[in-house]
Amino acid sequence: MPVNQRQVNLDPKEMPTQWYNILPDLPEPLPPPKDPETGESRLKNLPNILLAECLKQEFSQDRWIDIPEELWDIYLQAGRPRPLFRAVNLEKKLGTPARLYYKSEFYSPTGSHKVNTALAQAFYAKKEGYERLATETGAGQWGTALSYGAALVGLKCTVYWVRAVYNWKQDRRNLMELFGAHVFASPSDKTEFGKTLFGRNANHPGSLGIAISEGMEDAAKDTKAIYCLGSVLNHVLMHQTIIGLETKKQFEKFDDYPDLVISCLGGGSNFGGFALPFVHDVLKEGKKIKFIAAQSEASPNLQGEYRYDFADYAEMTPMLKMYTLGHKVDMMPIKGDGLRYHGCSPIISLLRDKGYIDTIAYPQDEKHVFQRAKEFIRAEGFLPAPESAYSVACAIDQALKCKESGEKKVIAFNISGHGFLDIPGYREVLGLK
Ligand SMILES: Cc1ncc(COP(=O)(O)O)c(C=O)c1O
Repeated sequence: MPVNQRQVNLDPKEMPTQWYNILPDLPEPLPPPKDPETGESRLKNLPNILLAECLKQEFSQDRWIDIPEELWDIYLQAGRPRPLFRAVNLEKKLGTPARLYYKSEFYSPTGSHKVNTALAQAFYAKKEGYERLATETGAGQWGTALSYGAALVGLKCTVYWVRAVYNWKQDRRNLMELFGAHVFASPSDKTEFGKTLFGRNANHPGSLGIAISEGMEDAAKDTKAIYCLGSVLNHVLMHQTIIGLETKKQFEKFDDYPDLVISCLGGGSNFGGFALPFVHDVLKEGKKIKFIAAQSEASPNLQGEYRYDFADYAEMTPMLKMYTLGHKVDMMPIKGDGLRYHGCSPIISLLRDKGYIDTIAYPQDEKHVFQRAKEFIRAEGFLPAPESAYSVACAIDQALKCKESGEKKVIAFNISGHGFLDIPGYREVLGLK
């Protein structure tokens, strides 16, 4: 291998054939979802809310779960495996002794890692006889990914999109529509719950928690429709582990291994997908890795309380034990709005509680984060999604710490998406003309 090799990819035949399920490896059993003290049982309703296969996976204690062959093939169609890059130019520009590596989920056809679970959920929904998928979206990346998954397997798709983002990402909305989806700003007047907020304020900025409630209500009213969630739940993180599993194989080819694993975190699917296969090495093989989740001060959910809370605003979901800011909290919209969620996935929350995961929250004006993304763009040539800019900022900040201390750390970060449809966000924050 040449010195300073810049990229490693896998042969398609080397793409993982199983997802990694961390549940049996956690330091203690994951606290199960529970019902609130009063009201109808949400737990009994779970089979009506989630796909049967996903519900099975949600509680499975099998460490490895097969990726169905047909789905594995669709992953190839979506451009997997994706390369791991060594950020040679960035290292030089920063003058850091650290070695920086980034995974390229931005090569996804819809723009982000969200396709890894969107394709799985669309695939299972088709098999289970549903005709339509209903969902929420924040950044719009998950809504696009599910619209794409639905189109590929031949299903309809309805997306409730947090209004604060819907308003400035018209091109992404059109992309979802090109895939055949129906897209509504949330809160909307399409659901009973949406109307209660929309009726009071037609410009309500919305939140992921609200959009989840709308997607769930929509699907509950139509026996041919099923609700799909883009983050937080165990099975979603598990589908995303294909990212970290590929990355581990690629590190072997680089003959290197990370000291630091960094990624941005909203509900936890990106961070979990990238980091959990490495957490395995820490828990089971005695490796020493520092994990850092990059967040916004607008929604630093990992700095909230570790307790049971609802995953949605209207309290339709069971309660999950997670780090939460409270399911009805107001959070200021940001350009990396995919990070603006009140709670963090139960798996990541447990690992944080046990001290395995650190977190940093960047200021809400996002200037530091977008400035760091600009440095990355100029050195490496790829345009990160606003959410992914948080991973980039954290990786660069750590690399600069290494410059001060002289440490030759190996830093791995995931660029969860591209920002081609997010330029207005860059324009506003960086003051571009
Ligand atoms: C590109 C991108 N990265 C990261 C995230 C964060 O979400 P999660 O933590 O659920 O992966 C989002 C959410 O929309 C996103 O669009």
